[in-house]
Amino acid sequence: MKNIGLVTTGGDAPGMNAAIRGVVRIASSRKCRVLGFRRGWEGLITNSFMPLTPRSVSGILQLGGTILHTSRCPEFEKKEGMRKAGETLVSNQVDGLIVIGGDGSFRGALQLSSHTNTHIIGIPASIDNDVFGTEETIGFDTAVNTAVGEIDKIRDTAVSHDRVFMIEVMGRERGFLALEVGLTVGAEVILLPEVKYRREHIFNIIKENTAKGKKSGLIVAAEGIGDTRVLAAEIQRNTHSEVRLSIIGYAQRGGNPTARSRLLASLFADEAVELLSNEKGNRVVGLQKGRIGSIPLKESCSTRKTLDSSLLSLAKLLAT
Ligand code: F6P
Repeated sequence: MKNIGLVTTGGDAPGMNAAIRGVVRIASSRKCRVLGFRRGWEGLITNSFMPLTPRSVSGILQLGGTILHTSRCPEFEKKEGMRKAGETLVSNQVDGLIVIGGDGSFRGALQLSSHTNTHIIGIPASIDNDVFGTEETIGFDTAVNTAVGEIDKIRDTAVSHDRVFMIEVMGRERGFLALEVGLTVGAEVILLPEVKYRREHIFNIIKENTAKGKKSGLIVAAEGIGDTRVLAAEIQRNTHSEVRLSIIGYAQRGGNPTARSRLLASLFADEAVELLSNEKGNRVVGLQKGRIGSIPLKESCSTRKTLDSSLLSLAKLLAT
């Protein structure tokens, strides 16, 4: 392995920079050159890259975002875009490509794998934690902590005003982020796209809590459940509580990565370079039962990661 291409694609996640640093330094210790493609797949289509060296990745470990920048790139989904990306890999003699991103990025990587002989390795990084093959993605722990920090503050004002707050967190159409956030802030109600809920059931919980003397409350909702503005207004109309909505939004994607996100990024980087050094490609690295390993890219893309619904029962029990 002489030349490794590196790209961050899709939504950014805190810890992507730690993964870039890891890949560059580990690859360089094995005498490999690393080319960092700019703005996700766009950099492969336009042949825009920067050489990365152990010194050029100094001081980025603790930074959120990605120094390579990223983008959503519809052109890459077309045949022509895919062809150009394949050409870029050939013209720069890239024999291994590391893709740092989420499930959408890996579906793109899988498509690209049929247009190139370059070995492709995925490093899972997404605040959504929805990649099959890893119990945790880079950035998830940071996003959970960011949301928890915000919601702890919201609780102060909820208690002072005897209000119920609905807080919307990200996660696209999955509820991993909402579930972990909801449990760790002690939410009375957690709403996830994967779990059907009845509106009357939510109204009853709020009314019962008021009767018990719990005048304030937290409802954590995943963005994927639908329009939270409508739901918050309905809850207010059907209970005697004052209800406010707070959408945390993109702050969850930024900020300094937690120690856990940095550690995971460094371990994934090490595994990714190790796979490429052994001429292995088309795999996604991951954390499985506490150990770092990898699974085929195809399997990661075609399997839906399941939510641990026992955490939901635990959260309900703890919020009584
Ligand atoms: O996949 C990460 C994520 O932040 C999701 O939680 C969210 O739904 C989506 O990206 C937002 O995408 P965009 O950056 O294209 O607005």
